[in-house]
Amino acid sequence: MRENIIILDCGSQFTQLIARRLRELKIHSVILPWDSSVEKISSYAKIHGVIISGGPDSVNAPDSITIAPEILKLDCPILGICYGMQLLAKLLGGVVSSGDSEEYGLTRIRLTGEKSRLLGNLPENINALMSHGDNVSRLPGKFSVTAETLNGVCAAIEDESGKYFGLQFHPEVANTEHGMDILRNFAFRICECSGDWDLENWVENAIANIKSQVGGEKIVCGLSGGVDSSVAAALVNRAVGEQLTCVFVNHGLMRLNEPESVLKSYENMGLNIIYVDASERFLSELAGVTDPERKRHIIGKLFIDVFDEQAAKIPGVKWLLQGTIYPDVIESGGVKSAGKKGAVVIKSHHNVGGLPENMNLKLLEPLRDLFKDEVRKIGELIRVPDEIVSRQPFPGPGLAVRCLGEITQSRLDVLRLADNIFTQELRRSGLYGNIWQAFCVLLPVRSVGVMGDGRTYQEVVALRAVNSQDAMTAEWSKIDYEVLDITAKRICNEVRGVNRVVLDITSKPPATIEWE
Ligand code: XMP
Repeated sequence: MRENIIILDCGSQFTQLIARRLRELKIHSVILPWDSSVEKISSYAKIHGVIISGGPDSVNAPDSITIAPEILKLDCPILGICYGMQLLAKLLGGVVSSGDSEEYGLTRIRLTGEKSRLLGNLPENINALMSHGDNVSRLPGKFSVTAETLNGVCAAIEDESGKYFGLQFHPEVANTEHGMDILRNFAFRICECSGDWDLENWVENAIANIKSQVGGEKIVCGLSGGVDSSVAAALVNRAVGEQLTCVFVNHGLMRLNEPESVLKSYENMGLNIIYVDASERFLSELAGVTDPERKRHIIGKLFIDVFDEQAAKIPGVKWLLQGTIYPDVIESGGVKSAGKKGAVVIKSHHNVGGLPENMNLKLLEPLRDLFKDEVRKIGELIRVPDEIVSRQPFPGPGLAVRCLGEITQSRLDVLRLADNIFTQELRRSGLYGNIWQAFCVLLPVRSVGVMGDGRTYQEVVALRAVNSQDAMTAEWSKIDYEVLDITAKRICNEVRGVNRVVLDITSKPPATIEWE
């Protein structure tokens, strides 16, 4: 059984980053909503510590979120970060003042608690990321200030007994100096973690867990060529081999030669695959549809229908395997839904393999604990082919969201050829591996051109390439002019129906990565 640190999410944009940083220290953590009961928290094994995250609220606002006070009595150290520190101070009898000392951005702080177990071994002055409107103006009993800003605002506190700690700044962000040292002190010195989270052990444990979970029962899985579902299938294949059947639906919206090459990789991995070419069904349902959300809904629903039809043919199947990863759990599951503020739907994402209705399948999600880069490392460890592990993210609805306007076979063919040229040129120049995503978008716009002696009136291709860490934000990639030049020339010369190529130079936000 591994050690856990519980992170209570009060809505900070950095909550996931705390988990990420702990993972770098080889410590497993569990993010739970701020309103989790003490019983829920205690149901996790080997809790070594609790971290209360930051959040957008003010503890003095009438309807501000708060944690159950009994949590503070758990028998482990507790660290409050930003809003979490203010909550901790308030719940333990301190006073938080609003509005008289706002600090946002990198702030110089002075560490004053030489004997502090959290901060004692760090330099006297560090720059730390602050983002607060409130501050702790009166400490709870038996607390002392262990760091302050140059304005004299309390930046860190701890209590005499060594159980409670508070940081007004964010140690988890990269630009806070010694942030990792602070988290290391908390985890190892204070919470006495040993750092028992390790990917190789993870694989062995996961295989043992899968075996004991599913016993001799059959499993079905929807594959898309994407990293997560492929790694999940490879893992389960290692654990219970023949019991797993994978369904690979070709929706006719993949890139040039992609269905064939993905299928070949799956066969090389020894997976038991049912391949369904449903491209005509998808294209006929999409005929005449131009609205992005309608496209997404049609594809999502049809995907589930096709998958269900196949899954229903597997006799005695009891489990549905999904490649759900940790960020999916946090974004779609319990954590955010417990927050008070609902998120706006920008795009309705869909992922492969909805739960077939009426089949009562149990859900198997062996990657639920992992971040994307960890999934890739596991993929490498269990020898998933490189073309899958290092594949750029590709949206579930495929080229449908890159073929703006009406989706027809001939427009998709144009897009495929253009996209293939862009990829070839990026690979040739060695840039491909350094780019998060690069692709072409076919615009439903015609412009006038001249080719040979003739006038042309044809469609426009936009080149889109971005760099990103997690797809939440992205910067457009500054690709070499030579590469852009040859790409544009080749597209106009080799792809009939396109006479103009443009480059998308918007970042996310305000744009999104995909155009629809
Ligand atoms: P946007 O366009 O929202 O995309 O900036 C963020 C990331 O998500 C991918 N994407 C999807 N992935 N199903 C998926 O599995 C979808 O429906 C979907 N839509 C967008 C996109 O390629 C980018 O990596």
